[in-house]
Amino acid sequence: MRIITIANQKGGVGKTTTAVNLAFGLARAGKTTLLVDTDPQANATMALLGRNEPELSIYDLLARDGSMKEIVTSTGEERLELLPSEIDLAGVEVELIGQVGSQTLLRNKMRSGLPHQYDYVIVDTPPSLGLLTLNALAASTEVIIPVSASYFALNGLSQLERTIELVRERLDRRDLRITGVLCTFYDLTNVARDVHTILQQRYGERAFKTLIPKNVKVEEAHSRSRSVFDYAPRSSGAQAYNRFVEEVMSRG
Ligand SMILES: Nc1ncnc2c1ncn2[C@@H]1O[C@H](COP(=O)(O)OP(=O)(O)OP(=O)(O)O)[C@@H](O)[C@H]1O
Ligand SMILES: [Mg+2]
Repeated sequence: MRIITIANQKGGVGKTTTAVNLAFGLARAGKTTLLVDTDPQANATMALLGRNEPELSIYDLLARDGSMKEIVTSTGEERLELLPSEIDLAGVEVELIGQVGSQTLLRNKMRSGLPHQYDYVIVDTPPSLGLLTLNALAASTEVIIPVSASYFALNGLSQLERTIELVRERLDRRDLRITGVLCTFYDLTNVARDVHTILQQRYGERAFKTLIPKNVKVEEAHSRSRSVFDYAPRSSGAQAYNRFVEEVMSRG
């Protein structure tokens, strides 16, 4: 079972879009997949269920000692299940901070009671390096970092790498690795090309070959609670996310 967190503390770089389409793509490729939404904005939950106030959510899992089995829900897509988030989750960091083991709650819950073995668990995270993102990283074996092809996008990558290193050392997650860095919102500007070149220099093979283009179909698909593959299969966004899914599977 591969457990992959999609993380970048910078907002709006395509984390949720990447998590959702990766999860859909894996399910369509025949892999049983769980998407975990750890973001109080609950965007991934909205994209999959069309609503962001589920009866039970990851809030009940982390703050009320709920179980994975009662909270994980099916989605419209075969082989794809969801651990939903909800707006209430915003309070969870305040409630849990300072408690012993608050950074490894999700890992422990996943170890003790997944509804069944999945091929893949994909974890979407909020735009911060707070307790929820730490929980996601500590529960994972891999990280994928989406970076938008804009000038300020590279700021903060060092801080994210330091955080990943801290999780490795202090939260006993030695096997946590950066599987890859994905360039998103790519277009034919010099800035986008520069960002892509810098990512290749910095990450080498770990920079995904696939570039995710800016494509309005990607956003429209969310608003219809569908994957870009269903909504606009021939769009540049769908084709790119298809190639990305292939790359992720080949890096297993
Ligand atoms: N390739 C793309 N082309 C066009 N629009 C996109 C693309 N990827 C994402 N978007 C849109 O850009 C916005 C931000 O994307 P997304 O929500 O995936 O980012 P995020 O990193 O999860 O944001 P946050 O940090 O707030 O969680 C959304 O409205 C999304 O639909
Ligand atoms: Mg998001």
